[in-house]
Amino acid sequence: MMMPQPGHAPGKFAVPMSAWLGLWLSVGCVSLCSPKVLAAPSSRYDQQAAALLSRMTLDEKIGQMTQADCEALKDHGDVAKYFLGSVLSGGGHSPVENNAQGWLKSCEQFRSWASKTRLKIPILYGIDAVHGHNNVDGAVIFPHNIGLGATRNPALVQKAARVVAAEVAGTGIQWDFAPCVAVARDERWGRTYESFGESPELVSALGAAEIRGLQGARLSDAGSVLACAKHFLADGGTDGGMDQGNTLCDEATLRKVFLPPYAEAVRDGVGSIMVSYSSWNGQKMHGNKKLLTGVLKEELGFKGFLVSDWAAIDQLSPDFKSDIATSINAGLDMVMIPNGPGKPNNYAEFIGDLKNLVAEGKVPMSRIDDAVRRVLRIKFQMGLFNQAGPELALAAAIGSPEHREVARDCVRQSLVLLKNSDHVLPLRKNLKHLHIMGQAADDIGRQCGGWTISWQGQGGNDIHGGTTILEAVRHTVASSATVTYSATDLSPDRADAIVVVVGEMPYAEGKGDRHDLTLSRDDLALVAKARESGAPVVTLVISGRPLVLDSAQPMSDAIVAAWLPGTEGQGVADVLFGDYKPTGKLPRAWPLDNGQLSTSAQADAKPLYPFGYGLTYGLLPAYK
Ligand code: BGC
Ligand code: BGC
Repeated sequence: MMMPQPGHAPGKFAVPMSAWLGLWLSVGCVSLCSPKVLAAPSSRYDQQAAALLSRMTLDEKIGQMTQADCEALKDHGDVAKYFLGSVLSGGGHSPVENNAQGWLKSCEQFRSWASKTRLKIPILYGIDAVHGHNNVDGAVIFPHNIGLGATRNPALVQKAARVVAAEVAGTGIQWDFAPCVAVARDERWGRTYESFGESPELVSALGAAEIRGLQGARLSDAGSVLACAKHFLADGGTDGGMDQGNTLCDEATLRKVFLPPYAEAVRDGVGSIMVSYSSWNGQKMHGNKKLLTGVLKEELGFKGFLVSDWAAIDQLSPDFKSDIATSINAGLDMVMIPNGPGKPNNYAEFIGDLKNLVAEGKVPMSRIDDAVRRVLRIKFQMGLFNQAGPELALAAAIGSPEHREVARDCVRQSLVLLKNSDHVLPLRKNLKHLHIMGQAADDIGRQCGGWTISWQGQGGNDIHGGTTILEAVRHTVASSATVTYSATDLSPDRADAIVVVVGEMPYAEGKGDRHDLTLSRDDLALVAKARESGAPVVTLVISGRPLVLDSAQPMSDAIVAAWLPGTEGQGVADVLFGDYKPTGKLPRAWPLDNGQLSTSAQADAKPLYPFGYGLTYGLLPAYK
């Protein structure tokens, strides 16, 4: 990797030397060291898996390849009846009692239902903890990956992932569908914020760091969970940034831009990989044997198992049974099955069809055995067969102040200072009157974005345990300072400075696909109003991707990109008031206009702020 110049000058790879050193060391180490987490092919886990496999019936084997959505499971007796190997809670799905205790109870039930089977193979429970244990009320919500990308700090990402793993394990769940190692090349894509950035090197380094944090030194450690790199392959490269769309490129580009994070993930021992809904040159990934088996398993030597995305095999053709044959033969080891439309208890249909396909010789027994061996090997490696239950100490630490401190550190390191005329920032803590505008200033739901409590996320302050930006500012200023707030208006008295919080409403996946990324008219009007007051204007952008700033750029004295920081708003105040000098660097270029939303479009144009851009504060004058 090219060693970039240290320092804060805006430039392609302008990042502090220390952060680069961390990144370089991590990438260097990853490529030099042999896998630590996944065991060698003829390990004890292989032997255990082979021994168990030899005792299994076809029904028991197919059960291990089936992952049912908990909400699709109408009768818990089905866990034992179909020998289900895995269940998941989809985005926003939760037990009636949505807190650590409620989750623990629910997981415990699944464990006990699975223990009623002949071979008592433990069930693997999966969830999307993509920025903290985000389905669980009271859990710490971290910045989404785009913000972590701005930190350029693998050690911090690893530490954050360790906290997430502890919170997930604390609810009895053992598998996290993370990290998303998409290299997002077009920010019209509604999942841009799930990507660490547009550069394969950055995504590789931070994805690997997250895997190390989630899986820990040993998968069987109490605070470790199974990671899942997703979505293989080229989910972030689709034409026009369309979710689940088609990536058009030659194989050399595919390997250069999108494959590196998977090579890195495999080297770091990732135990599972999720396949992408998207297509490459018109062929759906879920049916691409060359990439799933040829590249991932044979060429890269991936020893874990491949899981499908949510009802994704259904998209291969109108015929479900042939979709099963195509995807399993392509290399899928486990299939994620919610209730499809008009398909009650779809998993039963999957199981019946796959069994028939084996009888008809359309899916070879060797493929079934390979899939099940992979799943069992990971289960042995995770120590699931010896696990009595989750550690209650982990449950007690969910949402703890220590965990929140780590998230706060992520927040302050993720903020990118884009503009700072006349050193408006940092604000003085003892200023007389600070006015805050913008609804997002007092809204935890907006700070968190999609994949928070509900799948799409939602505005409002119903999420427990966090701090809004407004609250954080109030905690930070001197007792002599007055802080006023209005979502839409100026304060009656002229303020010494105005912070305007603008940005996006929460969204997830394709519902966030947009072609016009200009700040809303209301947001632009808010900045203009602040400007007219004559007070210095600080614009804070809460968004899942760079937005076209339009007139807000010249009208703001300072601009800060805060991404989707999560519950710990205090990290934002740390930067605004200079308790932390900004170090964040853009993980993707910031477009000047809607003609520059993709990396390829930016190649021929000059973005407003390039990849790697980010200012900091100079020496603070004595009075600050
Ligand atoms: C998403 C995945 C997610 C899965 C389970 C899918 O729609 O694409 O990222 O892991 O659902 O919730
Ligand atoms: C689920 C998500 C899933 C999505 C896929 C939602 O209903 O809750 O987990 O990713 O559907 O479309």
